[in-house]
This record gives sequence, structure tokens and C-alpha cells, in this order.
Amino acid sequence: MKGIILAGGMGTRLSPLTRVTNKHLLPVYDCPMIYYPLRMLVTAGFEEIMIVTGGDHAGDFLKLLGNGSEFGLKHLNYTYQKGHGGIAEALGLCAHWVDRDPCCVVLGDNIFQYSLAPAVEQYRQNPVGAQIFIKEVPDPHRFGVAELADNRVIHVEEKPQNPRSNWAITGVYCYDARVFDIIDGLEPSARGELEITDVNRAYLEWGDLRAAQLDGWWTDAGTFNSLLRAGQLVAETGANQPAPSA
Ligand code: DAU
Repeated sequence: MKGIILAGGMGTRLSPLTRVTNKHLLPVYDCPMIYYPLRMLVTAGFEEIMIVTGGDHAGDFLKLLGNGSEFGLKHLNYTYQKGHGGIAEALGLCAHWVDRDPCCVVLGDNIFQYSLAPAVEQYRQNPVGAQIFIKEVPDPHRFGVAELADNRVIHVEEKPQNPRSNWAITGVYCYDARVFDIIDGLEPSARGELEITDVNRAYLEWGDLRAAQLDGWWTDAGTFNSLLRAGQLVAETGANQPAPSA
């Protein structure tokens, strides 16, 4: 199973902080943002990791992370997304590298209190379909939202005006090789992006979408408020800590 970090996009919601650097290189407490998803994947046992980046500062990722030795890796893979065609477009750039293996995808601005190692391990045991990770939030309209019935997902929607639940879909996803066939068939959304929620909906329609409820805090760091909150949460508890049941 391969690990992918999506760190493309423009980070416009954080302008002017992102005018002369990439969002994922900004500090979250005592580390650059990208360290958190990278540590999340390393903690979950991934040795083969691809980072998708873009914009004018892609070279800075190489300067910062090199071959990943600081994280215990032998090698890091990098690829480049021109423009900001969406999360699913960025993932699609990894098709050749993933080469029909299952993969775990994490958004470069997502930070988790607890290690996802046990949850990812469960998917590794049976790497069929898609696995999403959900968390109840007070502001679901900011996220992809899942509606549940009897603990099963029955509906997914991207940033709904009237969310059907408080279950946000966090930015970590496990997929089998069909994900790239789905992406090939996607059309851009109203905001001109290939949406990851449309990928998840395709799995849902096949009856192949599983959801796990996360313990501990989760945050993105892509707005001023969430960036501040992320720094405070990391300062208080640290991130990627051993899960309580582990
Ligand atoms: O944080 C979780 C949410 O992330 C999910 O609930 C949503 O379903 C999902 O669409 C996403 O929403 P955002 O609007 O917060 O995504 P954003 O555009 O901020 O992109 C999140 C990360 O994805 C970003 O840090 C880098 C990567 N990305 C994004 C775009 C648009 C890319 O690599 N390429 C892109 O073109």
C-alpha cells in the first residue's frame, strides 16, 4: 500500500501568508505544516510516499524534506500539479506511480491528534473499496459531509449549504486501484475542480464506501482561524499521538 500527500493548490484563503511561499510550508506551532501529514503516514507504516505539490515554491519542499531521512524514510517521491484543478486531479497525477496498488491519501493541511495506524491497518487487511474517516464538527458546511443511517454512509456532499449531518469527511482516504478509473471519468464541479467527494460518491453508489469515526481532535489549517487552532491544539497535546486503544 502506498502513501500520498496532496500539497498542491494555491492557498488563496491564507493570502498574503501564501504570496511568497506554499501554504504547506507555513508553521503550525513548531513545525512546517507538511511535517504533520508526513509523520502521520510514517507512523502508519508507509515507506513509499509521494508528495504532490505545485505553484512557484515546489523546490522548497525538496530543500525542506530532501529524501525523507529525517522521518526515517529511504526515499521520497515528488510530483508537480500545474494549476489547482482539485484534490482529485492532484491524486490522478499519482496513477502511474501507484500502479494498481491500494493507497492512502492525506491532504497536506490536515492534522490529527491520534495516529491513524490502527485504522489504516484495518484497511490494509482488506484493501477493497474506499475508506473515509469522519468526525463530528460544529461547522460541517466547510467540509465534505457524510449522512449516516445505522452507522453506514448513505449520502456524501461537498460543502453543503444545508448539511444533512455534523459528520465532516476528514482529509484522509484509503482507496483501491479503481480510484484512478473514477478520476478519469470525473467532470469539474461548479468551482472548476475535480472533487474528492465525487470520487467518494462513486464508491458509495457501488456500495463500497466504508466510514470510520475518529477519536481525538482533527483540524485542517487552510484558513486563518483553523491555522491558529491547529497551532494551539498541537501545542497542547502534540499530533499523531498513539491512539488511546493502541
Ligand atoms: O479538510 C478536509 C476537507 O478538505 C474535506 O472535508 C473536503 O471534502 C475536501 O474537499 C477538502 O476541502 P477544502 O476546501 O478544505 O480543500 P482545499 O482546497 O483547502 O484543499 C485541501 C488540500 O488539498 C490542500 O491543502 C492541498 C490539496 N490540493 C487542493 C487543491 C484544490 C491539491 O493538492 N491540489 C488542488 O488542486
